[in-house]
Amino acid sequence: MKKHIVLLPGDGIGPEVTASAQRVLEAIAEEFDHTFTYESKAIGGYAIDEYGTPLPDDTTAACKQADAIVLGAVGGPKWDQNPSHLRPERGLLGIRKELNLFANLRPVQGFDNLLHASPLKREVVQDSDLLIVRELTGGLYFGQPSERRNDGASVVDTLAYDRSEIERIVRKGFEAAQVRKKHLTSVDKANVLESSKMWREVVEEVKSDYPDVTVDHMLVDAAAMRLITNPTSFDVIVTENMFGDILSDEASVLTGSLGMLPSASMREDDFGLYEPVHGSAPDIAGQGIANPLATLLSVALLLRHSFHLENEAKLIESAVADALDQGYHTRDLHVKGGQVINTEQMTGIIIDFIRANS
Ligand code: NAI
Ligand code: MG
Repeated sequence: MKKHIVLLPGDGIGPEVTASAQRVLEAIAEEFDHTFTYESKAIGGYAIDEYGTPLPDDTTAACKQADAIVLGAVGGPKWDQNPSHLRPERGLLGIRKELNLFANLRPVQGFDNLLHASPLKREVVQDSDLLIVRELTGGLYFGQPSERRNDGASVVDTLAYDRSEIERIVRKGFEAAQVRKKHLTSVDKANVLESSKMWREVVEEVKSDYPDVTVDHMLVDAAAMRLITNPTSFDVIVTENMFGDILSDEASVLTGSLGMLPSASMREDDFGLYEPVHGSAPDIAGQGIANPLATLLSVALLLRHSFHLENEAKLIESAVADALDQGYHTRDLHVKGGQVINTEQMTGIIIDFIRANS
């Protein structure tokens, strides 16, 4: 298979974890006889410094030509005082919008050797394995009007969706459930919000296209509670932009570490942007000690969702589990015993496993 991948290293530890991703992709390509080509482009604070804008046209153009994108992270204290059009996160929001990446997939899976790092009881988080499918380009974060009124005495935000926008994300949810445990939970606030009532209608309309999937509806407040009291009762959750933002941060405590969470942002076809959930970690940038595993798990998502290379994806996921089982961990992970290693060493261990098991 021949594919072209654009790398957007960004800021802080972004370039370190992106370099790790490229090394692992190269090992996969070699072992499985694929040809992956790479092109690195500027985004975020780095792009502001070099080109005077967080998202150069040249970056957008390269992304549009790519088969998939790997992003590190953007931002840092250096740009915190910049005016809003010169903020690094403008680059990230801009590229998501330019590429119409409306579906944000966040798998949350506990690793045995990290369970004790979660503040939740082991017996509650053990075996949790769920996927949050969050709508990313509509809903409360984008609805108009959103403004101050009456000389600042009142304010309005709008939760707006077209039926077609709901349908495409709901279908992503069903499709994801079909290849997992075939259980979809649609999360809304249908007892209060008109937008949620339409959301429920759409789910009910399309569900007959997925007869193998069991679907239920849950109010977002109940879902928030259930996520930490009974996480194993979920398989796939599909929900509105802001609900998904909140629930996915909540779900991240199940895994015990920010450095372990991958994400995929997809559109209608198989194209996607893959990035770790964590930020640019300016406090440890440049030291070579960043945990690359969230990014490598994002690479697994890339191989699965954009290239349909399920075996290659699974191999990376097994490699990560195996490294942790053997006690290897980066400084941010609180694994009992074992050995603390740096970014390059962790990448090497993952590659060794790939070569030994492919
Ligand atoms: P952060 O995720 O960058 O860091 C939080 C803490 O976790 C820090 O102590 C950091 O050292 C640690 N950490 C995060 N990822 C790690 C990894 N892979 N390995 C080891 N330790 C890791 O969040 P923070 O500090 O709130 O934000 C820092 C900058 O990142 C800000 O400028 C923020 O705007 C930006 N940010 C960017 C995101 C993105 O590009 N998608 C997402 C979140 C934040
Ligand atoms: Mg968030």
